[in-house]
This record gives sequence, C-alpha cells and structure tokens, in this order.
Amino acid sequence: MSAIAREAGALLMEYFDQNIKIEYKGEADLVTAADRKSETLIRDRIRAKWPGHDVLGEEEGLHDTGSAYRWYVDPLDGTTNFAHGFPVFCVSMALQHNNETIAGVCYDPTRNEMFAAELGKGAYLNERPIHVSKTVGLAESLVATGFPSHKRHKNPNIHFYHQITLRTHGVRRAGSAALDLCYVGCGRLDGFWEFNLNPWDTAAGVLIVQEAGGQVMDFQGGPFQLNSRETLASNGLIHGALQHEFQEIFAGRGLDPLPDPREYAAKIKV
Ligand code: IPD
Ligand code: CA
Ligand code: CA
Repeated sequence: MSAIAREAGALLMEYFDQNIKIEYKGEADLVTAADRKSETLIRDRIRAKWPGHDVLGEEEGLHDTGSAYRWYVDPLDGTTNFAHGFPVFCVSMALQHNNETIAGVCYDPTRNEMFAAELGKGAYLNERPIHVSKTVGLAESLVATGFPSHKRHKNPNIHFYHQITLRTHGVRRAGSAALDLCYVGCGRLDGFWEFNLNPWDTAAGVLIVQEAGGQVMDFQGGPFQLNSRETLASNGLIHGALQHEFQEIFAGRGLDPLPDPREYAAKIKV
C-alpha cells in the first residue's frame, strides 16, 4: 500500500514542477491532470494486485462489485495548494474490510513523509511509531481546520474558526485534511475539525489518529462514521473541551463578537 502511495506521490511531484493547467469542477473546486493521472495509477496498481477489490476514488467514483474489501482513494488531497505551488498535499489511501478500516496511508511527497497505520498495530511516520500529543489544556493547544471548496456560502465554519482562535494558541488552515489528521496523529497538532469532508479525505487519516492514541468523533461526541458530515479529531485530552466549545458556538452562547471593520476604518481616519 505504501509502495503505491509513494509511486503516486512521485508522479505528483513531476507535475508539481510544471506550470499545471487548472480546471474547475465547481466555482472554487479545482482539479488538474495530476489528480486524474494519480488516481489512474493507484487504480491500476490495486487492480493488478487485488483484482477483486472495490475502489472508491474521488475522481472516478465507485467501482462496486460487492466485494468485502473496499479502498478509499484521494489521489491528491490539497489540490488547491498543489495548483498554486503551495507545498502541502498528499496521497491518501485506506482499505476497509466489511466496513471496518483495516489499513491507511498518507504520503506527503514534498517532505518524503509516509504516515501509515494498521488496525490494532499502531501508527507510524516513516516506519517509526508515532503518538498523539500530551497537551492537556485547550488554551495551550494548536489546532487546525479546513473550509470546503463547494457550497462555501452555506458553511458556518468561520464562526468556529474565530472562536477557537481566541481560545487556543491558534488555528491552522493548511489545505489538506488528510495531512491535518496525520499531524494530529504525530502530535504536531492537538486537534482538527472540519464540516462536510468526504470518505476519501478522512478514511486513512482517521485510522492514523486512532492508532496513534487519539480520538475521532462527530461534533456531538457520537462515533465517527465515514459518511459523517462532521469530523472532530484530537489527542483525546482536549476532546471534551473542544466539544464543549462547539456546543456553545452552536447554541450561540458566550460568543466573542467579531470586531466591526467599519469601527477600525473610522479610527484610522482620525
Ligand atoms: C480538500 C482538502 C482541504 C479541505 C477540503 C477538501 P481536495 O480536498 O482536504 O483541506 O478543506 O474540504 O475538499 O479537494 O484537495 O482533495
Ligand atoms: Ca481531499
Ligand atoms: Ca482530491
């Protein structure tokens, strides 16, 4: 699995060095030839080794034969970054057996970092065991989030971004949900959340967080499911506090108001 991800990552790097043409799936939903070529490569390799397995990939959709094994493939997570030359993206692959994720890898070819996990066998970064952070307090934590590229006007996340920014060391928005999850797994981040992710974004990263000792749930504290529209991952220690903040924000309680830009502009003028 990691050999396939590494090969796909090398292919992405070949395209990354060129000025790649951007196409649009939606107003701000980008796709490039690299996304498609990477998925074709991954599907070819899976078919050659495991011809009976089903595959759900972002670009080509679901190949469903009713197999007990199903792969979840994001051939390029972080396409917007990739298309702009911003070096934060990865290849994400996960394998499920009877609806249970049994293995996952995310490969970041810009840093040659291979995150990998197998159910019950721990999580690894370049074959060395990784563990979530030991940060106990939300106020001392560094967390991350992301914003979707479609139906942007309907997404309330900017409110969460604002409030959580004021209650932590900061909120990063690096542009690859799969890598955000891996960074929770190896302790670079203490938590991550996002609305409306797809199974190919989360399948591998969620297993990596869990196998690294962290927690992944929906925003209410219910079990995370691959088709869930809510992803809240953490080191476990700040999970309750993050979840509490989410409940407060959803209820509109104790919100710090956004500063009014007109007041700011008026002050500059005098
Ligand atoms: C996107 C990235 C981004 C997240 C978006 C995803 P893509 O995946 O993971 O970080 O905020 O919601 O759609 O389109 O680059 O594969
Ligand atoms: Ca993605
Ligand atoms: Ca993608």
